[in-house]
Amino acid sequence: MTEALAYTPEVAAATRDIYERVRDVIPEIEWPVHAPYVALINELKVERNAILLAHNYQTPEIYHGVADYSGDSLGLAAKATETDADVIILCGVHFMAETAKILNPDKKVLIPDPLAGCSLASSITGADVRLLKERYPGVPVVSYVNTSADVKAETDICCTSGNAVQVVESLGTDRVIFLPDKYLGRYVAQQTDVEVILWEGTCEVHERFTAAELRDYRKATPDIKIIAHPECPPDVLEEADFVGSTSGMISYVDKQRPERVVMITECSMSDNVAVEFPDVDFIRPCNLCPHMKRITLPKILHSLQTLEYEVLVDPVIANRAYGAVKRMLEIS
Ligand code: 13P
Ligand code: SF4
Repeated sequence: MTEALAYTPEVAAATRDIYERVRDVIPEIEWPVHAPYVALINELKVERNAILLAHNYQTPEIYHGVADYSGDSLGLAAKATETDADVIILCGVHFMAETAKILNPDKKVLIPDPLAGCSLASSITGADVRLLKERYPGVPVVSYVNTSADVKAETDICCTSGNAVQVVESLGTDRVIFLPDKYLGRYVAQQTDVEVILWEGTCEVHERFTAAELRDYRKATPDIKIIAHPECPPDVLEEADFVGSTSGMISYVDKQRPERVVMITECSMSDNVAVEFPDVDFIRPCNLCPHMKRITLPKILHSLQTLEYEVLVDPVIANRAYGAVKRMLEIS
């Protein structure tokens, strides 16, 4: 791993504007630790013709300091189809990097930490999907993008939290197999007449929120707006004023400009979004995704210096998975 870098006057000058943006969410005492990495990563990115795509759950020094684009899973997948960079560095979890590779078989796709997994993606395998298809012959399979390439290869069409209802309805069938998130699946089922056959997967971060906790927020701050991610359990979603993908949540704050808001999702979201909306008061519950937090500035720098860790997908699997991801992007 790279040794700690020095905070020189040149580094301070090169990163001053970035720090001014994030000063409310990154203490001044921490900036000398981040700034040398931010400066060097931004330099090396240009030399390598690399693009850095970051999920909304990345820490503020990544999201605001080095990302060329940040967004939800759908936005990251769409951006991965548009870039002419030679190297894509995906700052997020493994399934996101795999999706970028499926969409760009000829590009080098790197993830700064290959162990950045996801409890939803690891809840199901391609063999499980084949068994489901045997059990429900002819019923189309809709897979959340939070799945491995093996699972996507067995899938008719992918979806994200931002387009799940639209995707399910696009198939024109009475029933769909929806996997792996049972809570997102139930949320979709409430909004469509299509029968949704569920898998028992959950997100280890969102399943920890409780309805009682949300009621406490409302009791303590009656004018608060509660916005929640659809990976939360159904009783939690019932307490929310708005339910949407991570980017849907950002759009809600942008359009509604609530005085006070609580985002029922991963910790870094509120910090990242608070930078953009200084007039909104964010109450910050903290459920951390340990997988997203594996990505750090020193690991991103290591990726740029060594071109590790390359994400590879078996071409036969990638080819089959491509159809499912592409169909999703076409209808979104
Ligand atoms: P979004 O697509 O809403 O960003 O969700 C991805 C994710 O992993 C949420 O936990
Ligand atoms: Fe997976 Fe949940 Fe982490 Fe998102 S927050 S990457 S769904 S474990």
